[in-house]
Amino acid sequence: EQNERDSLFIVSDFANKHFQHNLHQHEQGGIGQSYLKQRGLGAHTIRKFELGYSLDEWSNLTDAALKAGYQQEYLEATGLTIVKEEGKKYDRFRGRVMFPIHNVSGRVVGFGARTLKTNDKKSPKYLNSPESEIYHKSNVLYGLFQAKQAIRMQDLCYMVEGYLDVLSLHQGGIENVVASSGTSLTEGQIKLIARYTQNITVLYDGDAAGIKASLRGIDLILENGLNVNVVTFPEGEDPDSYIHKVGDTAFKAYLQEHSQDFISFKTSLYAAEAKGNPVKKAEAIREIVASIAKIPDSIQRTVFFRSCSLIFDIDEQVLISEYNKMQLQGR
Ligand code: UTP
Ligand code: MN
Ligand code: MN
Ligand code: MN
Ligand code: MN
Repeated sequence: EQNERDSLFIVSDFANKHFQHNLHQHEQGGIGQSYLKQRGLGAHTIRKFELGYSLDEWSNLTDAALKAGYQQEYLEATGLTIVKEEGKKYDRFRGRVMFPIHNVSGRVVGFGARTLKTNDKKSPKYLNSPESEIYHKSNVLYGLFQAKQAIRMQDLCYMVEGYLDVLSLHQGGIENVVASSGTSLTEGQIKLIARYTQNITVLYDGDAAGIKASLRGIDLILENGLNVNVVTFPEGEDPDSYIHKVGDTAFKAYLQEHSQDFISFKTSLYAAEAKGNPVKKAEAIREIVASIAKIPDSIQRTVFFRSCSLIFDIDEQVLISEYNKMQLQGR
């Protein structure tokens, strides 16, 4: 109901201001400041994305909010406050750098929060707000509020995995970038992007999980009728680490030079195995046809069948009959 939603927005806004105040004014904030500095983030980016810090205390936020007159009910509903069985209240986010998550109109709907400890296996690296009346993870993209104009202007949206990737690219002058943060890419998120552009380039981490997420993302994007390109990074690098390693200019050049469409991405992915191995080669072709099959537009499909046929030197009709077979099998 509208009233409840408004109350959740208002308490989230309070928390956002409180976390920012901690980072900039509180004596403990220096820990957060130096962490962000060490991650290469400057004052402008920190302000623009409204980064904050949650004090390393049990109930600093909860106490401040209650004292200011906010109701416990809404603190709980946003997940900011956790209430134990005995009625003891404590803050969900403690001793973490806070990344507020905005909806497209710029209201805070939730938070991501990173621990400052680099090697602590006990607490998760990132904690996120739980789902709430105002925060539906599958329909929110981190950074979209700050990126939407640039996405429209460039007619392209870069899709990354994490908060830090968004921030570092944005700071490096690549402002058309968003992250699906904490979930794998969803149809709802693609529809959000489709308001601004039909073109998505996926920049996932250079590890097995990143490749897997790229493959899944590609098919979902194609299914929704958008165009998709992929840039892969060297093993062990993600967009954030890589832009800091090579610098803004070289990073932008890397994006230009390494952007490939999904056919060449899948081709190169399977190429090593497929070489001189007809069974593997057939597998690669079938994987590509399966992706082409997701595209709703028949003219686009035809164009991609042609390009696949040229790359693999295989008759287009063979590809199309494979496609028809998949349709019959409901794949
Ligand atoms: P990564 O582990 O690649 O994070 O997870 P990262 O952004 O590169 O982290 P650091 O800070 O540079 O080490 C990518 C994204 O997945 C979500 C976060 O949104 C993160 O940015 N994630 C990751 C979680 O929600 N929880 C986790 O414990 C880890
Ligand atoms: Mn930087
Ligand atoms: Mn990763
Ligand atoms: Mn990463
Ligand atoms: Mn990273």
